[in-house]
Amino acid sequence: MHEGDALRLSRILTRWYEINKRDLPWRQTNDPYKIWMSEIILQQTRVDQGYAYYNRFVEKYPTVTNLAGATEEEVLKLWQGLGYYSRARNLHAAAKEIVDRYKGIFPIGYKDVLSLKGVGEYTAAAIVSFAYNEPYAVVDGNVYRVLSRIFAIEEPIDSSRGKKVFAQLAQGLLDKDNPGIHNQAVMEFGALQCVPVSPDCAKCPVVDFCLAHAQNKISRYPVKQNKTKTQNRYFNYLDIRIGDDMFLHKREQKDVWQNLYELPLIETEKALAWEELAENEVFRGLFSKSSAVKISKAFEIKHVLSHQVIYAVFYRIDTDNALLDEKYLKIKLADADRYPVSRLVHKYLEKL
Ligand code: ADE
Repeated sequence: MHEGDALRLSRILTRWYEINKRDLPWRQTNDPYKIWMSEIILQQTRVDQGYAYYNRFVEKYPTVTNLAGATEEEVLKLWQGLGYYSRARNLHAAAKEIVDRYKGIFPIGYKDVLSLKGVGEYTAAAIVSFAYNEPYAVVDGNVYRVLSRIFAIEEPIDSSRGKKVFAQLAQGLLDKDNPGIHNQAVMEFGALQCVPVSPDCAKCPVVDFCLAHAQNKISRYPVKQNKTKTQNRYFNYLDIRIGDDMFLHKREQKDVWQNLYELPLIETEKALAWEELAENEVFRGLFSKSSAVKISKAFEIKHVLSHQVIYAVFYRIDTDNALLDEKYLKIKLADADRYPVSRLVHKYLEKL
């Protein structure tokens, strides 16, 4: 990619970031200690849970010297619930190292940061770019996904060659004048827009750059060496009933069953128990204005296609309201057989 194109891509992602970024406490600071803390916590948990841990840690230990002065037991106690306790031990050990070797002043050079206990290349790049605007590109799971799609990279991300290819590519794309924002932007773009499953490419600001999209192969990337030949997908279908009405939706995206109808669908990365589905953001949004929601699991089926195995669960949901936009057709059950549906959806409908 030419330097000018790289910069154009970076500018678009950065502008997208400024508009869409989440307001997160570790983005309000340049303190390398707090940024380090947030990154270690976020390696262990998702942002929504990490938030509370981060706030507790920086409140109890506002500086690296405070953390170094704590006992390991206190630190482990505060870490409780996050799991993988060696991360907390490394955090504490590194804090002591910073006090002993650097007089409590967080190191500035990438190499010194990298040499801290528990700090790998990703974390070191995140700290020095966010805190000091040093030109080191971050490469995490989000970055692998975004870059592998935009550039249709076949190199597996879990191979040593792949790691080099992506590290070089990410470094080449880095806006050297704004490395901190650039890195945050690419990661946030992966977290919110270029998501693993069913990204909404119609809304994507870099869709014109995206080779995977042009080749209709979004779900192929990122390529993994140890991946099974067929792809597993998890479909949670919602048979939403409001009185006599039910809902159908036409699949318009370039994917299996294009232009066929189906029930409202929430696709997830993993199989979910219904309690987990009820916590899902999309699910909660659908029923946020409902005063009664009665859910029952109706039907579960494994549906095998040539390159995909779809694990589908159908839920019957009786409610008084659902926030479905105009793309959903409101129909009566008796009329459902007027619409072309996949064999999978048909198997469910014929049971009714
Ligand atoms: N995940 C890892 N680092 C993050 C960050 N700085 N902001 C949001 N999510 C993250």
